[in-house]
Amino acid sequence: MINQSTDRSTFETTNPYSFYEEIRAIHPVYKGRFLKYPGWYVTGYQEALTILKDNRFQTRTPLPETTKKYEALKNIQNHMMLFKNPPDHARLRMLVSHHFTPASIEKYRPFIEKIARNLWDDIKHKRKIDVISDFAFPFTSLVIAKIIGIPDNDKNIFREWALSLIQSIDLTRSRRTIVNGNKTTLEMLSFLKNLIQKRRESSKDDLISELLSQEEDRKLTEEELLATSVLLVIAGHETTVNLISNSLYCFLTNPKEYQKLIENPSLIESAIEECLRYESPTQMIARIASEDVELNKVQIKKGDHVYVLIGAANRDSKQFSNADVFDITRNPNPHLAFGSGTHFCLGSTLARLEAQIAIQTVLQKTLNIQLETKEVEWRQLVGFRAIKEMHINFDNPSKN
Ligand code: HEM
Repeated sequence: MINQSTDRSTFETTNPYSFYEEIRAIHPVYKGRFLKYPGWYVTGYQEALTILKDNRFQTRTPLPETTKKYEALKNIQNHMMLFKNPPDHARLRMLVSHHFTPASIEKYRPFIEKIARNLWDDIKHKRKIDVISDFAFPFTSLVIAKIIGIPDNDKNIFREWALSLIQSIDLTRSRRTIVNGNKTTLEMLSFLKNLIQKRRESSKDDLISELLSQEEDRKLTEEELLATSVLLVIAGHETTVNLISNSLYCFLTNPKEYQKLIENPSLIESAIEECLRYESPTQMIARIASEDVELNKVQIKKGDHVYVLIGAANRDSKQFSNADVFDITRNPNPHLAFGSGTHFCLGSTLARLEAQIAIQTVLQKTLNIQLETKEVEWRQLVGFRAIKEMHINFDNPSKN
């Protein structure tokens, strides 16, 4: 039984970690009212893991009420695997999962390395860039476009789409962001339908063509095909852009760890794992209890909202020693940045590879790299950890 509460009434998005700490100190499963729907805020690592692995905690329906103003958005989200529960979830996931296995993703390594190199060669003369718009966004766009089968010259339209749709998923969303998300969905659907028509006429070696053949075999409907494509475009961008920029931010604000990586580049894999833990691009996963459940002495009732704060779980000192210290040699590092259980991130191998290659490229192609200003501005989201713009300056090593 919890008889203590916090005076806070809102989320702190610039530095959420002190807020997480404050409610964890009261209880790792804290009942609060910081978002539109009151619910349980889970900050403890073990409790977060238990919930994510327990199918009694179901993924919530994305948008509660229907109005004509956001019918298209609601409809498309309802067909995404992210918002599906068993058995539909497994069917949709299986249709695309083989594209994202470590073996399938490894085949893209040379292509991803080339994109990173070319992009950096195009911008290095500037010596002053916004990491997000000049590098991370075009980089992740070109990669996911290639996998899905979207022509390169269309990649620039992704940016507005991704920003708009991520805001309509985040629980800070307002009616305006939802209506805007609906407009974006209509644009995206029109673009994808056009592309699908082209692939119907002449198929290629890409994910869209393969999903089309599965639609013809009646394994998925056209709406599911469209929803899967929209989900992959959005999931494939936004969080990976944030992983790349958050990682660079971690290094530039922890120069000793950056130096360690420069001296020992083989640490890249564990370094990216630590970035995933320390500044997790996804901060919150929402669930709804499908029956009454007792967890760590609290009674969660059927229908209760449960907010799993993975950014908090990843800083839980009961699980991680010196949890607030950024340590690129941390081992083991069982962070929950990609979730866990049924909905464990489908794109985790791709995201890891992209981030490793992006950071290795920056490492090889820059000298004296610095943040232009000490502080960066974080986007006001509760579900995601995202820097708005990240201006850096650097010198070019003469050998490049
Ligand atoms: C750093 C980058 C990424 C992070 C931090 C991330 C994080 C996550 C998390 C936490 C979930 C679980 C959501 C839940 O349980 O409700 C998830 C699911 C998902 N992610 Fe990612 N993701 C990243 C990159 C990607 C990429 C590159 C792709 C695809 C190209 C992708 C595709 C998906 C899909 C399809 C799901 C839904 C899986 C399902 O419902 O079974 N993600 N992601």
